[in-house]
Amino acid sequence: MRVQLIGFGSIGRNLLKLINDKGTIIQQSIGEKIDVVSVSDTTGTVITDGVPLTRIIQAKEGGGLKTLDSFEKISATSAIVDLESDLVVEITQSTRDGRPGIDHIMAAFEYEKNVVTANKSVLVSDTDLFSVAKEMGRNLRYEATVCGGLPVFNLMDYCMKSAKVLSVDGIFNATSTFVISRMEEGKTQTSARGEAMNLGIAERDQRDDLAGIDSARKGIILHRRIYGSTLTLKEATVSSKESEIATGLRQITDVTPKGVNVEYKKVDGKSVFANAVGPAMVIRFNTDVLDHLTIFTDHDGPLESAATVLNDILLSRSEKAAK
Ligand SMILES: NC(=O)c1ccc[n+]([C@@H]2O[C@H](COP(=O)([O-])OP(=O)(O)OC[C@H]3O[C@@H](n4cnc5c(N)ncnc54)[C@H](OP(=O)(O)O)[C@@H]3O)[C@@H](O)[C@H]2O)c1
Repeated sequence: MRVQLIGFGSIGRNLLKLINDKGTIIQQSIGEKIDVVSVSDTTGTVITDGVPLTRIIQAKEGGGLKTLDSFEKISATSAIVDLESDLVVEITQSTRDGRPGIDHIMAAFEYEKNVVTANKSVLVSDTDLFSVAKEMGRNLRYEATVCGGLPVFNLMDYCMKSAKVLSVDGIFNATSTFVISRMEEGKTQTSARGEAMNLGIAERDQRDDLAGIDSARKGIILHRRIYGSTLTLKEATVSSKESEIATGLRQITDVTPKGVNVEYKKVDGKSVFANAVGPAMVIRFNTDVLDHLTIFTDHDGPLESAATVLNDILLSRSEKAAK
């Protein structure tokens, strides 16, 4: 299975490492290996062609992709258009308008490639990528967009088929919890924010995490999926403010038929949310059959999200085989 990586940041590097380390499991799962055709970042594209994946990771962590012999100064879009592959993994950073991610995904569909993404911003714009994928007969998998390593959409798809989801709430942003719980341990907000950045859990623009934009994006993705709405990011109520961050609070997102609300709330000791410390995440489904089905992780970050992206790649291959 030929795969192209578009974006080579925290998730991309972890993903390449997982593909490298889990060759046997991948082969057992889909009956073939994952052949990484190319890796693109903002500087250009490495056409892998036999270059060991570990060498590409080392180059990125050293002098950059340009230090590799097979580096070409071609953009991610050109790589999608010019190189043959079966699937594009779109993992560039989330942005205010969803670009360049949307353009990459549209190019992939146009060139008959399936897509796996962890990029939330591409799913909250006016461009309905699911309709485009359907029209063009392509797969778009996006499990890592909401709560990274936690099963959210697969859980809904396979375990909650007959359930009516009444509402969802949770802590959808690991960075805000990480920063507040470090402050609860006596660290300064500045040092906690730096640590979150080094761990790769923070968005490029950390204000997206702390002012609730990242959580709102996830809430909108859920709202559209659960209630079939066309709600946009502008319509989410984001009352959490960066300046409000204080100990004893957690950034809680509520998704109800009425809309999406993100705010810092006081959490008491008995609440599941009070147990979220460090890079923790929680999602809680309130359904007509299961009351408060809760998925909790005490560590979510780029490795966990990369594992979810890899799972989506394998599922995408199985879907193709099933057709
Ligand atoms: N980190 C997490 O734990 C996590 C969890 C779930 C979802 N996500 C989402 O997954 C996506 C990736 O996350 P990340 O943490 O890996 O992001 P990141 O570390 O910020 O990396 C983003 C990558 O995208 C590349 N890029 C940006 N614009 C590009 C363009 N026009 N062409 C080619 N490459 C481009 C960057 O290139 P340079 O390296 O050259 O700057 C960088 O390699 C984001 O949308 C994020 O919201 C992240």
